[in-house]
Amino acid sequence: MSEALVTIREVSGHVGRSVRIGAWVQRKRSSGKIAFLQLRDGTGFIQGVVAKNEVSEDIWDNAGKLTQESSLYVTGTVKEEPRSPSGFELVVEGIEIIQVTQEYPITPKEHGVDFLMDHRHLWLRSPKQRAVLTIRAEIKRAVNEYFDTNGFTQVDPPILTPTSAEGTTNLFHTKYFDEDAYLTQSGQLYMEAAAMALGKVYSFGPTFRAEKSKTRRHLIEFWMIEPEMAFVDLEQSLRIQESFVAHVVASVLKNCRPELDTLGRDVSKLEAIQAPFPRITYDEAIDFLNNNGFEVPWGEDFGAPHETAIAEAYDRPVFITHYPASIKSFYMKPDPNRPEVVLCADMIAPEGYGEIIGGSQRIDDPELMAQRFEEHKLPLEAYQWYMDLRKYGTVPHSGFGLGLERTVAWICGLEHVRETIAFPRTLYRLYP
Ligand code: 4AD
Ligand code: MG
Repeated sequence: MSEALVTIREVSGHVGRSVRIGAWVQRKRSSGKIAFLQLRDGTGFIQGVVAKNEVSEDIWDNAGKLTQESSLYVTGTVKEEPRSPSGFELVVEGIEIIQVTQEYPITPKEHGVDFLMDHRHLWLRSPKQRAVLTIRAEIKRAVNEYFDTNGFTQVDPPILTPTSAEGTTNLFHTKYFDEDAYLTQSGQLYMEAAAMALGKVYSFGPTFRAEKSKTRRHLIEFWMIEPEMAFVDLEQSLRIQESFVAHVVASVLKNCRPELDTLGRDVSKLEAIQAPFPRITYDEAIDFLNNNGFEVPWGEDFGAPHETAIAEAYDRPVFITHYPASIKSFYMKPDPNRPEVVLCADMIAPEGYGEIIGGSQRIDDPELMAQRFEEHKLPLEAYQWYMDLRKYGTVPHSGFGLGLERTVAWICGLEHVRETIAFPRTLYRLYP
């Protein structure tokens, strides 16, 4: 019964032949004698040309009924057309309307962000949003490729957890039958256990933070890639991080040129992303800031303006290393030469995109770890399993977490992380 459809991506293999395509009308122009249909099928875009003189009255009438986002099966002969962005055009011979869409809310005029977010389920159909989601998928593919081909095993940590991994202030609480549970903020602690079993591991999944931050860099639900590596120190971890991020950027440049063009991304900025990446210590960063119009006392954490000022000095991501222990997580290993700072690094993306990676060498000494639990008032009972990792064959190990949405925002050159995921969860939005 149903004839096989050809996708727009495949038309190059059908030049001179008649094909049938399932599509939506993105736009229509008509001169009275000829109608131009901008068609989209999810795999690409093609212009369909309907000439009044060359089709039956029925087909011409059908073309006249088509509105923005109407759905149809269109039959036509594929023609090479050097002036079209896709290189091809469809000489329309048949139109079967599936639905004539009435009053599609997203018109080619400008809309406010709230309106677009309320219609996110439809906004996804725009060329720009399609390009972002395509690049996001390519980034995910490149992430898996990097770790899968470099000796890492992918492990999935739990999403429902009994305790906190990154501080207790921004946990999402839920009931777990009679117990309390929290949505994971980070899989790291579980990945440390997995690294003791498998050596080099990584996770790739959603994480949740009930953060009351309404910034262009924060989401409530975001995806993280968390590698954890046994017998790897901070220095080795930094080398892996820079080669990993350079691989991801190179993959997007290689495989997503049309999408980067759709977004108007300056690709020369991405082409500069080559390992090694520059490194500065927290102390050097403090000096730099205080010499450049900021006043940041030693011991204070950096905010977005500080990160942006530091990043502007470089054409590639920069590592800031050795932060004060007091502003970093409980599990970070102190520098043996200077215990007030920890063996950690944040990777700051260029062009004002802020911190994309947080990572560190972990404390491997059982006594020091027990001491940290006390200092941070964490309930030791709940973390007994984590203490076991230091009790039974502890080894030096390091890991890091890359935020997927900030990475997508940077690579795509987007203003805000809300456009980097199909259905963003932000401080004031749970719909759609
Ligand atoms: O620096 P963070 O909090 O580090 C951790 O969670 C570690 N446990 C990771 C590890 O060592 N395994 O978060 C890591 C990254 C940040 O650099 C940022 O890119 C991203 O996760 N991130 C967010 N992205 C979007 N919205 C938020 N609210 C984010 N919070 C963190
Ligand atoms: Mg961080």
